[in-house]
Amino acid sequence: MSTHKDFPNLHILDHPLIQHKLSHMRKVSTSTKTFRQLLKEIALLMGYEITRELPVSYEDIETPICAMKAPVIQGRKLAVVPILRAGSGMADGLIELMPSARIGHIGLYRDPETHMPVEYLVKLPEVEGRTFILVDPMLATGNSAVAAIDTLNKYGVADKDIRFMALVAAPEGVKVFQDAHPDVPIYTAGLDEKLNEKAYIVPGLGDAGDRLFGTR
Ligand code: URA
Repeated sequence: MSTHKDFPNLHILDHPLIQHKLSHMRKVSTSTKTFRQLLKEIALLMGYEITRELPVSYEDIETPICAMKAPVIQGRKLAVVPILRAGSGMADGLIELMPSARIGHIGLYRDPETHMPVEYLVKLPEVEGRTFILVDPMLATGNSAVAAIDTLNKYGVADKDIRFMALVAAPEGVKVFQDAHPDVPIYTAGLDEKLNEKAYIVPGLGDAGDRLFGTR
């Protein structure tokens, strides 16, 4: 995992396995089935990295040999929150890794006039004492991610209890994000070059939702 000189809270997960899978996802020739599978696999590998600092508590257990105090993660104290719809493809990988985690949903659509995100669904678990992993494959303009974190704040989740995970990020989006929520770490597999005039990430991988669900 490496950090970026211009963005102190951006962590790039440059593990070769993650990078290899991401390169396949970027290819225009990759099928929906493979894209979906790879997104899940990458999310799982990213999840392994971003949970490195999770606190553990100690439980009394019996091995076949003796009693011991064994470290365990409080899975029920974690929440995975996909931003719909493409975030759900990443959430699948994290849930496989942390099956006891609670799952929330934040649904946003883009207003055709203002191009700003509009919230249409919020379902969250109890927030008290919980760490929230917010996921969206593409951190493009940063507006959806900021809106989703504003929503979490409104429901009582502090920035210090949030981590944001994106497959690919654009510098423009990272800046918007970090100006709004400097204390929320961003984890991504790739920091790309820029946004184009339609706010797609370049080189990116196209529309993540369409590629994940086979729509257009
Ligand atoms: N959303 C996507 O799905 N792809 C992009 O490149 C930008 C936003």
